[in-house]
Amino acid sequence: MQEHAAISSSAYKNQVFVYNLFVDIKIRQVQKTDLNGCYYVEGSCYTNEGASKERIAKRIEIYPEGFLVAELDGKIIGIINGTATNAEDITNEELKDMVDFDKKGKNIVIFSVAVLPAYQGKGIAKLLLNKFIDNLRKLQKEKIILICKENYLSLYEKFGFKLIGESKSNHGGFRWFEMILYLNKTSARI
Ligand SMILES: CC(C)(COP(=O)(O)OP(=O)(O)OC[C@H]1O[C@@H](n2cnc3c(N)ncnc32)[C@H](O)[C@@H]1OP(=O)(O)O)[C@@H](O)C(=O)NCCC(=O)NCCS
Repeated sequence: MQEHAAISSSAYKNQVFVYNLFVDIKIRQVQKTDLNGCYYVEGSCYTNEGASKERIAKRIEIYPEGFLVAELDGKIIGIINGTATNAEDITNEELKDMVDFDKKGKNIVIFSVAVLPAYQGKGIAKLLLNKFIDNLRKLQKEKIILICKENYLSLYEKFGFKLIGESKSNHGGFRWFEMILYLNKTSARI
């Protein structure tokens, strides 16, 4: 089923939206042809902690099931991606290069959730995260793990993630916090 985000120009007069009517945003699995669009989103949303184009290409190639895009009028405006693994230590930088990838792995490690600045604050990350979580429940994954900056803790809490604590990662020179979401009742610890 296609996901929808309702955006009307009247609510966002000073933004890039020029639509008079409601428009559809498609949340779909990534395709190889999305590489440039995904890299553009990544580069627009992160500084030195963002992934290189090569890393993004590798993620698309190896695990497209763990990579969703938000598309508006043929343009990629948001992304979410990660890896499947049985590894528990998500501070291992090599995970970002899909080392330890196992399609049947019980854990999903999120690498990136990003929405182009002009489209932020309109519920697009919410669409991406909800679809991502829903897909992984269907794949019977046990848990989703991520590290995020302190200012995003409350965002992920809204999706049921629990704070584990401060991460030992200093990726990109930042302070990171580890969060976890258990996907089914038998593995839930909350
Ligand atoms: C984080 C990011 C993806 C959010 O995208 P977005 O499309 O603006 O988010 P949404 O509009 O879907 O918001 C979803 C929910 O999170 C909340 N939220 C959004 N940004 C938030 C923030 N910075 N801090 C706390 N909560 C936030 C919203 O209020 C909303 O909650 P609600 O449904 O109760 O209103 C976007 O700000 C971004 O690309 N940031 C740069 C990249 C980055 O740092 N990503 C996080 C990596 S850990």
